Amino acid sequence: MIRTIIAASAVICIAGTAHAADTCVIKGDHWDLDDAGVAALYNCMSARMVTGYTKGDDPVAPVYRDWTQTATRAAVAGAHGERFLLTFANDIAAPEYLKFASEGVEIPVGGVLAKESIKIGKEGKARIGPLFIMTKVGLDDAPDTGGWLYSGVQPNGKPLKFKQAFCHDCHVGWESQDALAYPLEEVRVSATQ
Ligand code: HEC
Repeated sequence: MIRTIIAASAVICIAGTAHAADTCVIKGDHWDLDDAGVAALYNCMSARMVTGYTKGDDPVAPVYRDWTQTATRAAVAGAHGERFLLTFANDIAAPEYLKFASEGVEIPVGGVLAKESIKIGKEGKARIGPLFIMTKVGLDDAPDTGGWLYSGVQPNGKPLKFKQAFCHDCHVGWESQDALAYPLEEVRVSATQ
């Protein structure tokens, strides 16, 4: 038997039976989802993201939800495969990141940013996307990528495989802000909060 457990805005979260996992479905264009719709989508996907990312041994996966959430909600920016994105900053990165400054930004070594992602697939079905991670290791260890180490965790907990240049070639476009692209302006959490 299938029952609807959330029906807010344009998101329907259906709890499946023992045979099928819960399904979160979006009606209409995911670019047009309002705040309540995004909240319902996030509610539906929230726990299973952590469950997926922590299936492996990535050290960030079990802890990033305790960090500072940098946006009021997940949002679609376009990059990262048009996924809904939500970034968390650890204690070392948060004070500088939350200024969302456009010049002279420098995250100290040890700063980490972890970004969850939700992909909307065929027929509006939501799926977990990778957890994208940027770790400031310093220029000695990462001279070609501005001192950043890029990594990622797949929804099954395994490491995401890619070349550093794949990520950095795009992120270097924000060079004056320490290669950080920031969440969309309308969802940024202010540093004073
Ligand atoms: C085509 C450009 C592009 C590529 C390629 C790209 N990113 Fe990003 N990334 C962005 C944009 C734009 C944002 C900010 C969007 C948002 O969070 O709403 C972002 C944000 C991030 C953030 C949050 C910190 C920040 O910049 O504000 C992390 C972490 C991140 N990306 C990791 C990665 C990793 C890891 C890869 C490679 C697997 C990667 N990115 C590849 C464009 C890109």
